[in-house]
Amino acid sequence: VAFFHSKKKLLNKKVLVTAGPTYEKIDPVRFIGNYSSGKMGFALAEKLAEQGAQVVLVAGPVSLKLAHPSIQRIDVQSASEMHEACLQHFPQMDAAVMCAAVADYRPKKIASQKIKRQAREMFIDLEATADIAASLGKLKTNSQLLVGFALETNDEAQNALGKLQKKNLDFIVLNSLQDQGAGFGVDTNKITILSKDNNVQLFELKHKTEVAADIVEKLTQELAKL
Ligand code: CTP
Ligand code: CA
Repeated sequence: VAFFHSKKKLLNKKVLVTAGPTYEKIDPVRFIGNYSSGKMGFALAEKLAEQGAQVVLVAGPVSLKLAHPSIQRIDVQSASEMHEACLQHFPQMDAAVMCAAVADYRPKKIASQKIKRQAREMFIDLEATADIAASLGKLKTNSQLLVGFALETNDEAQNALGKLQKKNLDFIVLNSLQDQGAGFGVDTNKITILSKDNNVQLFELKHKTEVAADIVEKLTQELAKL
């Protein structure tokens, strides 16, 4: 058998990806969730696997299927389940890409029976969920890369940089809402990548699979520097 060079750039690299929304239970039939489709995270997982990476994909509730056979998929519902799965796998990883739209709050108590309709107003007490990216940021070693996402409505760059620092990320992918056709529910995205070394890269509006390829390229470059 002739020896040939593989063009795959992430052979032997292990990458954790979170994707989709989380659902936080209110009662047996209701939850707090969000409109994240999971498309960006799934596209990333596929591109990483195409480059030979061993991918662990922690997915919230989404209606998506994977094409690549080697991706290890862990389906979760809540932020707490997603956190647990990430804590379990992150120590073995070379990189983690936090693409999930994790709920920031969850009901303090889950009602064991369906909550009945009443004519008066009602309130649900909420408590903060764990910041999964920040918790991985605390565990991160010098040989690991941590990537976050941000979707902002105002002061985009400033807010994204704040998150980069607070969560100890190596770079953050800012989803620009400035342009139509970017963000939740659509197949395209316009991103800006802000790095901890103050490097800023602007990208064109593209299909999410192409955006994923740009992010994987950036990740590959940054991994090589570690
Ligand atoms: N993130 C996370 N766990 C959370 C909240 C966010 O891992 N509980 C991750 C997201 O996956 C994303 C990054 O942190 O990579 C930024 O998420 P975002 O919701 O923009 O930031 P927050 O810190 O939650 O701030 P806010 O929603 O108030 O803007
Ligand atoms: Ca949030």
